[in-house]
Amino acid sequence: MSEQRSTRNIPQHVAIIMDGNGRWAQKRLMPRSYGHKKGVEATRRAIAFFARAGVGHLTLFAFSSENWNRPQDEVSTLMALFISSLQKNTDELHQAGIRIRFIGDRSAFSEKLVTQIEASELQTADNQKLTLNIAANYGGQWDIVQAAQKLAQQVEQQIIRATDIDAGRLSAELSLADSPDPDLFIRTGGEKRISNFLLWQLAYAELYFCDVLWPEFSEIEMQQALDTFASRQRRFGKTGEQVSRRSAS
Ligand code: IPE
Ligand code: IPE
Ligand code: MG
Repeated sequence: MSEQRSTRNIPQHVAIIMDGNGRWAQKRLMPRSYGHKKGVEATRRAIAFFARAGVGHLTLFAFSSENWNRPQDEVSTLMALFISSLQKNTDELHQAGIRIRFIGDRSAFSEKLVTQIEASELQTADNQKLTLNIAANYGGQWDIVQAAQKLAQQVEQQIIRATDIDAGRLSAELSLADSPDPDLFIRTGGEKRISNFLLWQLAYAELYFCDVLWPEFSEIEMQQALDTFASRQRRFGKTGEQVSRRSAS
């Protein structure tokens, strides 16, 4: 029965803060960059797992707009890892029917990285099994600001009036406009915060925090997150009675 229940309640969109790479390496007296390399393996596992589970959209926080404040060598390692991971994995992801998209401000990236991002996006653009959004140089505040700027331009050009601006129009200008909002948010690594991830889009996501460090995030823990999600009652402002009456009918 519990299996039936969980297949019925698979989230359409899962968003993950993949946290804990540095601490995982430091615990082993290894450089933080080693943790990031191991983190890529966990990322591959997670993509395969959630695709198999039937999740249609997966958004992974890979590099926040605040992560530029890290030591220069760590930032360089991460940038190099993005390039090499895309080079190594795009074909396999393509064969698995995965559409790769980057969200965030790519103007700060090297030309080499931007070219690779564009190539991976183009190659996988028509895939439909799962849309993989990689948030890189992404910040939730940046996203809302750039959406506000686009709306302001439309007002300036007299395409819309200021009073036409509503939640729907603002959502339509955000990075994930063509994906449903995340149903399930996962953060590994023990911290209980959003760290400027999808601030607008997480309005009604179920939040799931676990202590496991990202390189150790296993299929068992991923399934646990899905099971927890399936056991929650999402009320969207209604009463529990209203919601259970609807789902019983
Ligand atoms: C998350 O792991 C990966 C990135 C931010 C790029 P961290 O590097 O934040 O790992 P901890 O939190 O220091 O352990
Ligand atoms: C959030 O993790 C960003 C990513 C996982 C890419 P951080 O480790 O940078 O978050 P804070 O700074 O501890 O909140
Ligand atoms: Mg961290």
